[in-house]
Amino acid sequence: MQDLPIKGALKDEQLTIIENAGILVSEGVIAAVGGFTDLKAKADHIETITHDAVCIPGFVDAHTHICFGGSRANDFAMRNAGSSYLEIAKAGGGIWDTVTKTRKESETALIAGILKRSQEHLQLGVTTIEVKSGYGLSIEQELKMLRAIKTAAAASTQDIVTTCLAAHMVPKDWSGTAEAYLSEMGQHLFPVLKSENLTQRIDAFIEESAFTAKQIAPYFKKAQQLGFDITVHADQFSAGGSQVAVDFNALSADHLEASTQKEVELLAKSNVVATALPGASIGLGCDFTPARKLLDAGASLAIASDHNPGSAPMGNLLTQACILATFEKLSNAEVLAGLTFRAAAALKLKDRGVLERGKKADFMVFDTSNYQEITYHQGQLRPSMVFKNGEKAF
Ligand code: NIG
Ligand code: FE
Repeated sequence: MQDLPIKGALKDEQLTIIENAGILVSEGVIAAVGGFTDLKAKADHIETITHDAVCIPGFVDAHTHICFGGSRANDFAMRNAGSSYLEIAKAGGGIWDTVTKTRKESETALIAGILKRSQEHLQLGVTTIEVKSGYGLSIEQELKMLRAIKTAAAASTQDIVTTCLAAHMVPKDWSGTAEAYLSEMGQHLFPVLKSENLTQRIDAFIEESAFTAKQIAPYFKKAQQLGFDITVHADQFSAGGSQVAVDFNALSADHLEASTQKEVELLAKSNVVATALPGASIGLGCDFTPARKLLDAGASLAIASDHNPGSAPMGNLLTQACILATFEKLSNAEVLAGLTFRAAAALKLKDRGVLERGKKADFMVFDTSNYQEITYHQGQLRPSMVFKNGEKAF
């Protein structure tokens, strides 16, 4: 994926394929990519793969909620039996159910859950993973989640990028207004995020059931004054969030299942990465993000798993990306770019996602002679080896 643009449609002919290749790694970073015979002479230690194999960059999963307690299998069953969102919420389901269960978990139990799930992602080739809070929804409980994510990050082989999603919904036990909740979080949570170095990123769910654009504006303004980066849960059920993402120059606008041509063009004109979350479409039985339209209009498209207990319980990023590709007609180059360097851009990471000199030595090997087999098997062909910072991690 050397020299591919960050935005717009891609053709498979734009991919660089090196036969009989080698990767020279030094101190966790790629020192050179080229012919094996040439590179062999420069290496002190050589690991050779003699069978048919394709090596590609490690995946970057730029949107997950893998810090949580409990299960929402009952929501899933009710939804598939025809119950409405409201009926499920009345039966005690929805985001609030996970909040209740997450609040009951100890920090230690949350850490174990994150590490278990991040390890499963690693085995599927994810070498960098973003993890959000958002099931705490009080200062103390959001801090518990973010501290758990920070501790898990220190213990994990993968890089874990943390995001604060205290603006996931107005907690049901908050007696004031949505504005007052956000103001409380901005005033009393943000400074602790800074002082404990818990995250650089602030996310919000812009939706009728969560926060309006008007309510979120002072919250994002405050976050930016303190130097945080912004990302948005946008246009999932109704359009509006992508305008907020563009107005605040967010790193990414995620979901976009309900985006119309207007939002597509808005995003395409901006530098906001459009992140499709096919796992949520598959989990909820909703439309897919208009990925084809976004790319054709010139947007940058990342693909992430949204792995969470409610809308996206599956968590297999490659399977989800391949299904998105069949419905939206995405080239292999667009899928692979969306899982690697374009996803890295959504996390403001320029040091990974491409196999070239100077980038992190995060890559994986599939036992096949043809790279097209990777998407063809829709996730059933799994990496036989995954390398993180040049070390074999799986
Ligand atoms: O990204 N859209 C809002 N938040 C999550 C769902 C969280 C949940 O249902 O627990 C999402 O899909
Ligand atoms: Fe999400």
